[in-house]
Amino acid sequence: MLSREEILRLDKKYIWHPYTPMKRYIQEVDPIVAQRAEGLYIYDVDGTRYFDANGSWWVNILGHNHPRLMEALRRQSEELAHCSLANVTHEPAAVLAEQLVKRCGPGFARVFYSDDGSTAVEVALRMAYQYWQLRGRPEKNRFVALSGAFHGETLGAASVSATQVFHKVLGPLLFDCIRLPSPAEPCGEKACGQWYEQAFAAAEQVLVERGGEVAGVILEPLVQGAAGMLMHPPEYLAKMRRLCDEIDALFIADEVFVGYGRTGRFLAHSHAGVSADIVCLAKGFSGGVMPMAATVTSKRVFEAFLGGASETLWYGHSFTGNPLGASVALEVLRIFEEEDLIENMGGAVAALGRGLEKLGRHPWVHNPRHHGLIGAFNLAPPGGSGAGADYLSDAGWRLCAELKRRGVFARPLGNVMYFVLPINVRIPEIDELVGLCAQSLEAAFGEA
Ligand SMILES: Cc1ncc(COP(=O)(O)O)c(C=O)c1O
Repeated sequence: MLSREEILRLDKKYIWHPYTPMKRYIQEVDPIVAQRAEGLYIYDVDGTRYFDANGSWWVNILGHNHPRLMEALRRQSEELAHCSLANVTHEPAAVLAEQLVKRCGPGFARVFYSDDGSTAVEVALRMAYQYWQLRGRPEKNRFVALSGAFHGETLGAASVSATQVFHKVLGPLLFDCIRLPSPAEPCGEKACGQWYEQAFAAAEQVLVERGGEVAGVILEPLVQGAAGMLMHPPEYLAKMRRLCDEIDALFIADEVFVGYGRTGRFLAHSHAGVSADIVCLAKGFSGGVMPMAATVTSKRVFEAFLGGASETLWYGHSFTGNPLGASVALEVLRIFEEEDLIENMGGAVAALGRGLEKLGRHPWVHNPRHHGLIGAFNLAPPGGSGAGADYLSDAGWRLCAELKRRGVFARPLGNVMYFVLPINVRIPEIDELVGLCAQSLEAAFGEA
């Protein structure tokens, strides 16, 4: 086995890290050198234990190396590690598809597999785009998305995203979409009322006028993650669903981050009592173990594709429907079912709420908030409004450095600090995290 120093030498010489200013990384950063992980914790090669408060980029829905997921992976690997899903099928993909359709609810009928959140979104966009051509309405060819949206990395997903860095660099390469105001409360702690209603009124005005050109509305239900954990109420989603029906547009729920129970229901948009036409699933989908994703769609959408070669969705990846990923994803659903995890997460959600309230007493903490087990707050000097996400702020990194010293791995979104916890997290573990965060806040910004 290589020493920590040797791994770091190879890393710094050969790896190009994601979302990382590499010059600074090579010169200054001492990363965690992960050797193993279990439950909430990642262990460095040097033996240091880190509480994974980031959920390893939000994928970890049942904790690291859940024994049942590892066993499902082992079992499947002994029989069939991979085969294509074109004119071939296999049990894990078939059974998983049935289970997903059932879990997603009566509005859903078909599953298209892909590799990650970005491809789940890419598939959704292509389905929606082609759907209207097949229905004889090619003029319905535009997508509608929210300000601050993040839907992934592929060029389609980046086009419906509103991430500054993408648009600055890739601008001309991306397609244009109709951008709506975010329904998230912009006023920080000083709630300014039913903000989402104003955002919806603005959306309605645009969409009633331009509905004839709209293929679909895509949004992240309840929590706009990468935008800074911006949260909105389910009422907005209910209104948006009705509006989509009025203008005859597809409602696409990007549940890549918020799905799989994170907000207290299997699908976040079901809090609104509505059903999307297309739903994108990834991250928690395969328990953070295998890269796999799915786009689940309604009968109405699928049936438009039941023709010949020109009615085909010409899309696929080498690893579409990978048996290892499918077996693990199926085991995730079985664990959810057998352990009633979503039904039982109320205590942990309440503990996170109490913890955030406590952290909110620190003068640098503004707008503590949570939806299910996604918790966040903004960092700003005392007296500031604390509203909005500021990606250029280093406040989050200051706090994360202190957290790391205390054995917590977290990543900020500029001035927004957040925790994304597995849905089987226990109350004492949340209390531990809150305690370490309180100490870290004092170390970074002074006493409360
Ligand atoms: C809402 C949402 N959609 C799509 C993606 C892209 O997922 P991936 O990184 O797996 O491609 C993300 C990633 O954070 C996301 O938060």
